Amino acid sequence: MILLNGSPREKGCTYTALSEVAAQLEKNGIETEIVHVNKGPVLGCTACGACYKLGKCAYSDEDGVNECVEKIKAADGLVLGSPVHYASAAGAFVAFLDRVFYSKGNAFEGKLGAAVVSCRRGGATAAFDQLNKYFTISSMPIVASKYWNMVHGNKPEEVRQDLEGMQTMRVLGDNMAWLLKCIEAGRAAGIELPEREKNVRTNFIR
Ligand SMILES: Cc1cc2nc3c(=O)[nH]c(=O)nc-3n(C[C@H](O)[C@H](O)[C@H](O)COP(=O)(O)O)c2cc1C
Repeated sequence: MILLNGSPREKGCTYTALSEVAAQLEKNGIETEIVHVNKGPVLGCTACGACYKLGKCAYSDEDGVNECVEKIKAADGLVLGSPVHYASAAGAFVAFLDRVFYSKGNAFEGKLGAAVVSCRRGGATAAFDQLNKYFTISSMPIVASKYWNMVHGNKPEEVRQDLEGMQTMRVLGDNMAWLLKCIEAGRAAGIELPEREKNVRTNFIR
């Protein structure tokens, strides 16, 4: 399982929440890797369309978008973690994810997805909804917990005091592990991803 930390703070609140999910996955025998992806300036998608031909983003050398796509391709699932910035996911993380998801083709189909957000006080559900939209446009089943996946705090120690938030993270880890095992069992029984129709793209009605 790949867990992307989209906070500019490498070991902050988002990391604390993601670490709780990762620890629970590991307890269930699932390998995890937390990858810090918001390390500096990130270019937004320039809509150049080069990824259609190249099969990858043309602008990845500096910020590792393509490297991240390869990591996700090799994994069974993806957790997106972000702090809430102005009731949205962190801006540079959104820039990064736009390029990851636009350039990946259909490579993430069937991989599990979950979003986790951290905020001091408000805007968590808006950011949570925003991140989940990357999964629902990519045929990625979303894994739920017992509450929306959010923690509250400005510092890691405050997040650790959010006992319900931390439990929500652990339940998410358990649910992800359970669904991964169900999918693996299904695959062993011969259940594959559905065959896809040829893509239809209509720019509204035409
Ligand atoms: C630019 C910026 C905007 C923020 N906007 C919000 C916000 O809209 N709502 C909120 O509750 N907290 C907001 N915060 C606080 C962070 O969401 C909160 O401290 C979060 O837990 C930090 O996670 P991190 O340590 O992983 O970066 C903002 C912080 C920054 C730096």
